[in-house]
Amino acid sequence: MMLPISVHAGDGDNSHPHSVLLDYIRNDAGLTGTKYMCREGGCGACVCVVKSRDPVTGKKLTRAVNSVNFTKPMSQVHKRSSNNFVFQCLTPVLSCDGYDVSTVERLGNRKDGYDIIQNRLVGFSGTQCGYCTPGMVMSMYGRSEEHTSELQSHH
Ligand code: FES
Repeated sequence: MMLPISVHAGDGDNSHPHSVLLDYIRNDAGLTGTKYMCREGGCGACVCVVKSRDPVTGKKLTRAVNSVNFTKPMSQVHKRSSNNFVFQCLTPVLSCDGYDVSTVERLGNRKDGYDIIQNRLVGFSGTQCGYCTPGMVMSMYGRSEEHTSELQSHH
């Protein structure tokens, strides 16, 4: 499986109109590093990072999402959310057509080594039980990527 994954409408057996990005990632793509708990956009365990283009402005967007509610146009989601999260558990997979989705598997693992965000979180004892740690890591990674994109667009 290449990472980040690209979502194309019609992929997989689970592309029912009511399927959400979370189930696509875990069940169809087999990337089970993304966790879930509430399945209603409250806990943040399912956050991943999405790269796409705003359909109105054409501007490249990088957002940490919890498999989020994309029923609104991207530009409104972007303005509405100060942290630009997308909740996988609420985001219809068919609304993600053409998106590049990064899950926690992309950042690092035991075999290949961990990303600096993962190492810092562990180094400062920020994991607690660890179940929702992938969501916290991806929230920070998304914010970092978004900030990097903003800096690059100003040069
Ligand atoms: Fe809780 Fe998605 S599972 S926000």
